[in-house]
Amino acid sequence: MERCGIVLAGGTGSRLYPVTIALSKQLLPIHDKPMIYYPLSILMLANIREILLISTPQDITLFERLLGDGSQFGLSISYAVQPQPRGLAEAYKIGEKFVNGRPSCLVLGDNLLYGHSLSAILSRAAQKKHGATIFGYHVSNPSAYGVVEFDRSMKVLSIEEKPLKPKSSYAVPGIYFYDGRASFFANQLKPSARGELEITDLNKKYLEEGSLEVVLLGRGIAWLDTGTHDLLYDASLFVKTIEQRQGLKIGCLEEIAFHKGWIGKEELLSQIKKMGNSSYGVYLSHLLETSRSWV
Ligand code: DAU
Repeated sequence: MERCGIVLAGGTGSRLYPVTIALSKQLLPIHDKPMIYYPLSILMLANIREILLISTPQDITLFERLLGDGSQFGLSISYAVQPQPRGLAEAYKIGEKFVNGRPSCLVLGDNLLYGHSLSAILSRAAQKKHGATIFGYHVSNPSAYGVVEFDRSMKVLSIEEKPLKPKSSYAVPGIYFYDGRASFFANQLKPSARGELEITDLNKKYLEEGSLEVVLLGRGIAWLDTGTHDLLYDASLFVKTIEQRQGLKIGCLEEIAFHKGWIGKEELLSQIKKMGNSSYGVYLSHLLETSRSWV
């Protein structure tokens, strides 16, 4: 069964007020493209093409306007609403019919991952048939995240959500690979003290039965947070710095789709027309021109 993807792009974005009073956080720009492009690119790099995007009742139509049915990126994107931000694991209750017992990958609409061997790491996680794969990333402020504890042989001992006294410096980024039982487990969860269905509790279900794998992401990978005004600015600057130096874009969905053979020159051309004379459009034109010289 082919693995499907869920992008969770709801929440209130209250830490970014007033910026996010009228606009979804995940539609804010990270340098030259909307934030949501980055988690979508993660799913694409993991070879996932059938995607459910979940957002708030007021924002869902904006995502539909931006992304449509996804065919311009060689994807199939459908949409669902989360009426209230009742937790990340609720994605698997809302998306139960969509997932339909298939293996899946949940990615948070505000997470940005970039770096060396990322495609290979994601593809490997996507190929695993049984259990769950999550990631561990060394951070300076683990208390702000889900935190994973290991023993000396790197066996996972515990996962805790935003612990006051973290047992390690390894935070869990917002990208989770599950086998076909994620909705089944999500249906068993009870809201936490803060009233949310916690993704950490879903991960604990897999940990308890011994089928949770935690893959460490090393120094060659950047996992960026976008939760505050400063972090949002830092993320934009990071993308701008790398893109300008290399002349290659991060999270360009048409480029990934084109290189994977999911869209052809016709589709690329129609996206070029749509992007007008933006730097994004110019980049796509260059992509088409250089591909002509390959044939
Ligand atoms: O970013 C990784 C972290 O994401 C993990 O380490 C934590 O274990 C996990 O709980 C989560 O922590 P956050 O504090 O970042 O969660 P937050 O409530 O900020 O939500 C993350 C994103 O998901 C955010 O863009 C809003 C969206 N969201 C959140 C909730 C609670 C929804 O779409 N629906 C929701 O119900």
